[in-house]
Amino acid sequence: MSTNGTARSAQPDPCNFVIFGVTGDLTHRLVIPALYNLAEADLLPQRFCITGVVRKPIDADALRDSLMQGLRKFATRPLKDDLARRLLGCLTTVQADPSEPASFDRMRQHLEDAEHSRATAGNRLFYLATPPDAFAPIARELGRVGLLREDNDHWRRLVIEKPFGTDLASAIVLNGALLKVADEHQLYRIDHYLGKETVQNILVLRFANGMFEPIWNRNHIDHVQITVDETLGVGHRGSFYDATGALRDMVPNHLFQLLSLVAMEPPARFDAHTVRTCKAEVLGAIQTQSEAEALRNAVRGQYRAGRVEDQPIEDYRKTANVAPDSTTETYVALKLAIDNWRWAGVPFYLRTGKALATKRTEVAIKFKEAPFTMFRDTAVDRLSQNYLVIGIEPVEGITLQFNTKVPGPSIAIDGVEMKFQYKDYFHAAPSTGYETLIHDCMIGDNILFQRADSVEAGWQAVQPFLDAWRKAGNDGLEFYQAGSNGPEAGEALLARDGRGWRTPC
Ligand SMILES: NC(=O)c1ccc[n+]([C@@H]2O[C@H](COP(=O)([O-])OP(=O)(O)OC[C@H]3O[C@@H](n4cnc5c(N)ncnc54)[C@H](OP(=O)(O)O)[C@@H]3O)[C@@H](O)[C@H]2O)c1
Repeated sequence: MSTNGTARSAQPDPCNFVIFGVTGDLTHRLVIPALYNLAEADLLPQRFCITGVVRKPIDADALRDSLMQGLRKFATRPLKDDLARRLLGCLTTVQADPSEPASFDRMRQHLEDAEHSRATAGNRLFYLATPPDAFAPIARELGRVGLLREDNDHWRRLVIEKPFGTDLASAIVLNGALLKVADEHQLYRIDHYLGKETVQNILVLRFANGMFEPIWNRNHIDHVQITVDETLGVGHRGSFYDATGALRDMVPNHLFQLLSLVAMEPPARFDAHTVRTCKAEVLGAIQTQSEAEALRNAVRGQYRAGRVEDQPIEDYRKTANVAPDSTTETYVALKLAIDNWRWAGVPFYLRTGKALATKRTEVAIKFKEAPFTMFRDTAVDRLSQNYLVIGIEPVEGITLQFNTKVPGPSIAIDGVEMKFQYKDYFHAAPSTGYETLIHDCMIGDNILFQRADSVEAGWQAVQPFLDAWRKAGNDGLEFYQAGSNGPEAGEALLARDGRGWRTPC
């Protein structure tokens, strides 16, 4: 997100967009289609080139053909062949493998030659679209040959995609390796959730309106629910998923990004340092639980065979490359507390899972009940609490749930919804969700990217759950049928506090 309307439409400086993992799925599916959309919106630099880094020799034309096929398949808008060809026409390839240090010396020469012929002024964006275990070796080699060194005339930036570690210790090691060769301002840790307009809108909703912030605290809010439900099963990603699980895959990154935007203190200024500091502070304020507390305040589940949207889903343990006795969770629900004045006593309930009945990402803020006094002698037996719901997927918008009088002579009350949907007001061209993020990398705006301290604070908060579950093994693992709303215990986690997950009207 840019700091103002002008910056958002800013033309980036000339640059060389260097992609490691150029042969992979992320590049084909998202990075090149996003660059294409930026080119169409005239938001790429005037002087621009792409360098595809490959480990094994590949003919540049063959790579261009493959990327063109990717564009045809994944473009979010009708493809203009001329524009696509012009974009891919500025791609050259170079061979470099972090396990062969000499190849990085050769790559340095290649970059300098390409930059000379395209006059890209020496600015370089290194996009690591590779498996995470390659991040540190690639960064090390880039640093060793001086490719990350900045001076007044050139910027050098390194973009990596989550996961940023697999636990607290590995996140600290990865941050250490990156910060050894680059300064924090050069690092762009992408969480693609922050490319979503509705997620960015949480800041605007809270801080550009006078009516929400005064009630955004423990005096008025009963609790907060963050839900990221997916209908898809693990599919062909068994090997990755079985080693990862729902907690690692979703919570320290996507769910905590939502949590930090909802719970952070108001930043005094809309600049990267201030906003990221407020986010890191609130993540750092999540109460670290003991392992016993973690077992009590979390539910982990695994799906059994079932049907989702009328399609069969096989038992998780029968998925290819999943251990037949796997204890990996495909569903997690957590109760967290934030230890500060604003949120003391306000539980944050988070849940995410695969193979569930409906696809839904939302933040639901439940307000405290109004005093019942006035209705004591009427037919009204209870008042439902008000919800403010920030819908992120599939419906992007904001819903306010409140009580109203049912027409008629007697007093009867019912809950109704007032709905704002993005699509009713704005007509954004379909996008990959990466355009804003990639453009921000090129203009040097890192508000939407995670800083090392936020990443570590996130892992710190989930580490007790990881530790407790590793020791518990099968004990406490719940099962749910694919196509259901998750395990019963997920409901019980809130029911024991006299609460329940929001059911959309
Ligand atoms: N695909 C998506 O939709 C998506 C979405 C969000 C995030 N991601 C993340 O993006 C990253 C890449 O995913 P992907 O789906 O594109 O994987 P992929 O299809 O397996 O591609 C991996 C790419 O990285 C290269 N590579 C592998 N090991 C390397 C190493 N040690 N050093 C240098 N290059 C190496 C591969 O090159 P070779 O051709 O030489 O093997 C290939 O180009 C992962 O971290 C993933 O979590 C992917």
